[in-house]
Amino acid sequence: MHHLCIAIDGPAGAGKSTVAKEVARRLGIVYVDTGAMYRAVAWLALRHGVSPADEQGLIRLLRQHELRFERNGHGMFDVYVDGANITSELRTPEVSAAVSQLSAHPEIRRILTEWQRSFSRSQSVVMDGRDIGTVVMPDAPVKIYLTADIRERARRRADELAAKGFSVSVEELLHSLRERDERDTSRACAPLRRPDDAICIDSTDMTVDEVVERILSIVRQVHHG
Ligand code: CDP
Ligand code: CDP
Repeated sequence: MHHLCIAIDGPAGAGKSTVAKEVARRLGIVYVDTGAMYRAVAWLALRHGVSPADEQGLIRLLRQHELRFERNGHGMFDVYVDGANITSELRTPEVSAAVSQLSAHPEIRRILTEWQRSFSRSQSVVMDGRDIGTVVMPDAPVKIYLTADIRERARRRADELAAKGFSVSVEELLHSLRERDERDTSRACAPLRRPDDAICIDSTDMTVDEVVERILSIVRQVHHG
């Protein structure tokens, strides 16, 4: 089989991880959730009382603890810290609030980018994040920029949280998504931007299945000429 590398970037709540996971499943290749890696560093910082602004403190934490990333039997991307599976603790509001602050540090990004590249060197991957098509896999033959109207993204997040039994207003989510998007697009190091050679998909009025089919048809076009 060809070595397939599919890069998916875009703002928070655009549907990147939902869609990337399904595209990987349909192609029988590995899904790499780079957001989960940044979230794992935020989780460590919160757990050990290190400020997300303290880059040296964060680097020390990464030296002192063992982080491991693994695909489980359901195609999900699992994160282990010192042998314990912490995946279900990565999407809390506390982690979300800390993560975009620490992801601005160049040395943290350098370490995580190396881990991410090591996945794509040896196998076919679908990788999602903010800088995958621009920095992590600039040579990926398939690059997607997935976006959606911010109100729709906030609504999707609210539905997701409601399904887990949490009630958070769309207005509140709108505010936190806006803040995170602003930090992610304005940082100096590897900001979120649409790669020049990416295909843009606006999923505001699309279902998950429609987005997945669209990406699979792009993959077929690229790989079969
Ligand atoms: O799923 P959601 O879009 O809410 O977030 P995520 O993909 O889990 O990413 C969480 C945060 O990690 C983002 O807001 C970015 O600050 C950072 N991130 C990044 O800087 N670069 C990446 N390649 C992936 C995530
Ligand atoms: O990874 P990212 O932050 O971009 O988004 P996500 O964590 O995959 O969350 C997107 C949410 O919107 C999920 O609950 C999806 O079921 C839903 N959704 C979608 O992803 N794509 C659509 N076209 C419609 C809904």
